[in-house]
Amino acid sequence: MLRVGILVSGGGTNLQAIIDAINTGKITNARIEVVISNNPNAYALTRARDNGIEAVCISPKTFDKREQFNDALLLKLKEYNPDLIVLAGCMVVLPEKLIKEYRNKIINIHPALIPSFCGTGYYGLKVHEKALERGVKLTGATCHFVDEGTDTGPIISQKAVEVMDNDTPEILQKRVMEQAEWIIMPQAIDDIANGRIKVENGKVIHI
Ligand code: GAR
Repeated sequence: MLRVGILVSGGGTNLQAIIDAINTGKITNARIEVVISNNPNAYALTRARDNGIEAVCISPKTFDKREQFNDALLLKLKEYNPDLIVLAGCMVVLPEKLIKEYRNKIINIHPALIPSFCGTGYYGLKVHEKALERGVKLTGATCHFVDEGTDTGPIISQKAVEVMDNDTPEILQKRVMEQAEWIIMPQAIDDIANGRIKVENGKVIHI
C-alpha cells in the first residue's frame, strides 16, 4: 500500500478528487496518511478531517526563520513515512533538502501545459490570467515530478483543454480543473501506486 502525504494551501478540490478516486476504486493500493497545509484557513483541511484523514497546519508565519519552518515541515512529513508526497494546490516553495530526500517521490499538478505558462510567478488563477492575456486557444494541466526548479521536473501526464472566447480566468480555471486536473492527478497516483511509472534519464516512462 502506497503511503501518501498531501500538501495543500487552499480550497482542496484536487485533494477531494484524490479522496473520491480512492473511495470509488479509481486509485488502488494507496492510502492518504496525512494532509498538511501552510495555511490554517485552507478548506482542504476541513475536507481531510471530514474524510477521517489526519490534517495538520504548519504555517511559516509561526516561525522566526524560514529554515525553522522547513525543518518542521520535513520532520512532520517524516512522522508519516510517506512513499509519495503529492502537491495538490500547494503554494509553498519546498525546501531543497526535502526535494533531495524524496527524489522522484514528489508530484505536483500545474494548471497549464508545461513548458507554457509555468515557472516563478505562475500559480493558481494567475496562470489562467496570463493564458487569456496571450490569447491561447488551448491550455490544460500537467502532472509532473518535482525537482529543484520551478515546474521543471519530469512530466508524467498532460491533458489539453479548449479556451473559449468569453472565458474569464475563473471560468477557465474551473474548466481546466474539471476536464484535466481532477483526472490526471488521481490517474498518476494510481499509476505510481501500481508500479506503472518509472523515471529514466529525466523522463517518465509508462510501463
Ligand atoms: C489548482 O488549479 C492547481 O493546479 C494550482 O492551484 C489550484 C489549487 O486548487 N496549483 C498551482 O498553481 C501550483 N503551481 P485546489 O486547492 O482546489 O486543488
